[in-house]
Amino acid sequence: MKIGVVGLGFVGLSLTSVLSSKGYDTVGIDINKDKCKKISKGISPFFEPELEKILKNGLKKKLKISNDFSLINNCNFLFVTVGTPQNTNGSIDLSIIKKAISTIGESLKKNKKKPIIFVKSTVTPGTMKKIILPILEKKSNKKAGKDFGLISNPEFLQESSAIKDTKFPHVVVLGGYQTKFMKKAKMFFMKLHPNIPIIITNHETAEMIKYANNSFLATKISFINQLSNICQKIPGANIDDIAKTIGLDPRIGKLFLNAGPGYGGSCLPKDMKALINFANISGINPILLNAVEEVNTKQLKQIIALTKQKLGNLSSKKITILGTAFKPDTDDIRDSIAIELIKKLLKMKPKIIIHDPKAMKNTKRIFEDKISYAKTIEDALSKSHCIIIMTQWKQYEKLNNNEFKYMTRKFVIDCRRMLVGKQLDIDYYAIGLGK
Ligand code: UGA
Repeated sequence: MKIGVVGLGFVGLSLTSVLSSKGYDTVGIDINKDKCKKISKGISPFFEPELEKILKNGLKKKLKISNDFSLINNCNFLFVTVGTPQNTNGSIDLSIIKKAISTIGESLKKNKKKPIIFVKSTVTPGTMKKIILPILEKKSNKKAGKDFGLISNPEFLQESSAIKDTKFPHVVVLGGYQTKFMKKAKMFFMKLHPNIPIIITNHETAEMIKYANNSFLATKISFINQLSNICQKIPGANIDDIAKTIGLDPRIGKLFLNAGPGYGGSCLPKDMKALINFANISGINPILLNAVEEVNTKQLKQIIALTKQKLGNLSSKKITILGTAFKPDTDDIRDSIAIELIKKLLKMKPKIIIHDPKAMKNTKRIFEDKISYAKTIEDALSKSHCIIIMTQWKQYEKLNNNEFKYMTRKFVIDCRRMLVGKQLDIDYYAIGLGK
């Protein structure tokens, strides 16, 4: 059994590493030659806990990494995990996946086996049948369902727990026609993930499940963020106690009720926009989804308004941003709210200094010398007029009066309520706490 994975981002590289470490004859393909070179040496192009360990394990077995697409010839299974970014109007950009699928179609011509192509990339409903399937059939001159299988297989892993999620997913979704290929796919996943529910459905439903999942998560976050705004007007109210309590109701569930500066990252914002765009095109006014986005945008506006209200004119004030990664345990800053915050603050000409345990290099690529980069948390705080805690890195929990004493003005906005309950000699504001 030979498995190919096309696209070595978070999803593709995690899958490649997990499958190969389990002993599957796996080949990971990416068009980026430098990236492939690095990965071949056991170095991950991004920070993800556990990834390098398991990748090295795979490389010791049969794993091959290459930018040579001919290596996918004669694979039994092919997973497509390339990115589906957004166009400027929010709609989905399918150019990368179309190109990858065309190449796979070409290689199908020569494939003597009858492979199954699993599409893990997030695509809007209808894409598999209307775009992917016709490209594959045209390029290969073969028939889906007869000469090869095509299955929608959406992914639900989270960055920062990508390996754990790949090894132990909560569900496997298989969308497509009920053919011998579907039966084979089911057997494979039953063996790979014993006791995990497998949902077998059609392409459109599988495609929609992914958007339903991400948009529901975004809705939970905006819901708790909206409530946190109300709490801020109620003296003594605490959003975490509220979240903890409602989370105990099994109908609600405790996860994704952590109020903060809004959801970011390379998935939730993009998928929300794509779903809103898709709904509009389908003639449905996505009132709720629009509101979820609006609440998200307002969280950041609120932080900026509070900073201006307390500091007045921001020019020449020193503002410290703690955390630029879109969440802890990653160096990913794509669509990070902290990055958005820095961009907006820079227009008001303050001096910005940032700290992040993993994402400094990526942040530097965006802002270069427009902002400063602190080597230590202490350096970041020194002579500062304001600290804004954006990312819930464990390191920031330890902050105390000792570190704050070197600030010019002891004003702290804690977007993640990391310092709640400490006796601090500072002007302290936290999202979701009534003053
Ligand atoms: C998200 C989904 O959680 C995954 O299930 C999905 O597979 C993935 O997108 C994808 O489509 O590829 P991820 O982008 O890794 O995963 O990030 P999340 O953990 O969902 O966090 C997204 C944002 O929400 C972060 O900015 C985080 O800080 C924020 N968030 C999350 C909150 O503000 N509060 C919470 O309670 C949870």
